[in-house]
Amino acid sequence: MSQGSALLRPVTLGDLVLPNRVVMAPTTRCRGCVPSELHALHYARRAAAGLIIAEGTWISPQAIGAYPNVPGLFAEEQVSGWRRVTDLVHALGGRIMVQLWHAGATPLTLPEITATIADYCTAARNARRAGFDGVEIAANGTYLIAQFLNPRLIRRTDAYRAGPRLLLDVLDAVLGTGCRVGVRLSPYWTATDSTPACPDYVPDEETLSRYDDLVRRLDSLAYLHLRGPTRFDLDAFTRYRKLFDGFLIANNGFGRESAEAAVESGLADAVSFARHFIANPDLVTRFALDQELSVADKAFNYTGGPAGYV
Ligand code: PHB
Repeated sequence: MSQGSALLRPVTLGDLVLPNRVVMAPTTRCRGCVPSELHALHYARRAAAGLIIAEGTWISPQAIGAYPNVPGLFAEEQVSGWRRVTDLVHALGGRIMVQLWHAGATPLTLPEITATIADYCTAARNARRAGFDGVEIAANGTYLIAQFLNPRLIRRTDAYRAGPRLLLDVLDAVLGTGCRVGVRLSPYWTATDSTPACPDYVPDEETLSRYDDLVRRLDSLAYLHLRGPTRFDLDAFTRYRKLFDGFLIANNGFGRESAEAAVESGLADAVSFARHFIANPDLVTRFALDQELSVADKAFNYTGGPAGYV
């Protein structure tokens, strides 16, 4: 039993009390466009997480990307499907936010951007109606918002030049709905591929300094959820801890010991886990007892159905 575990120390996220620092990361699992009993079971079994951030969820039909069977928050049946999930997680004593996702990839004109920002707000209001404790704006990977931030993906419109403006406008608008709002960034994800499999790519200083400027401007948020380098490197988080005073969730490649070290040293306020939560619904207990972890079988990542999921 790890008595003085930093990961098991409660912490407040704004006015939300997290009983521990073990966060479940948003994880695409392709189990249906409308959340079902299967989703309820999946999330409920992980309700002991300090915070669940539910999988990337499309804000509108236009936001849908290449993955099939990913849920949304734009149709009434999705709102009520999610409500069943959040009610159960809350009944079990948990906390659950949801990641709002737009895959991007077709050039956007200014009216489309304006409409897209409105779609983020509608999805955030729907997230509240669905009982979520807040939303995370996906600005990671190769998706819409990152397409304005990441020099390898950059595209321009007349009104929205490459840079942080789209993200900042989305954040302002969504904050205006009264939601608790976090953001996920991946400054080290420089591959143009949607699978983050480029461990040796090192972002150039220009890229990192762009993200530095952005991170300095995020202090009104509930949290910053930061994906570290693909090749695990705890030191990479030092840069962001210096720039960001708020609640920092570190992610990518952590195990119990490195997560303990990150929280104990103050480098992060919490650590999120994807693959460990897939294979270990009781991850918090396993960490507490320093038990061995099960290993996820990737073959079931996107298959649909209960196998490898619940
Ligand atoms: C991530 O943000 O780490 C991420 C997003 C989408 C994926 C995989 C990883 O498909």
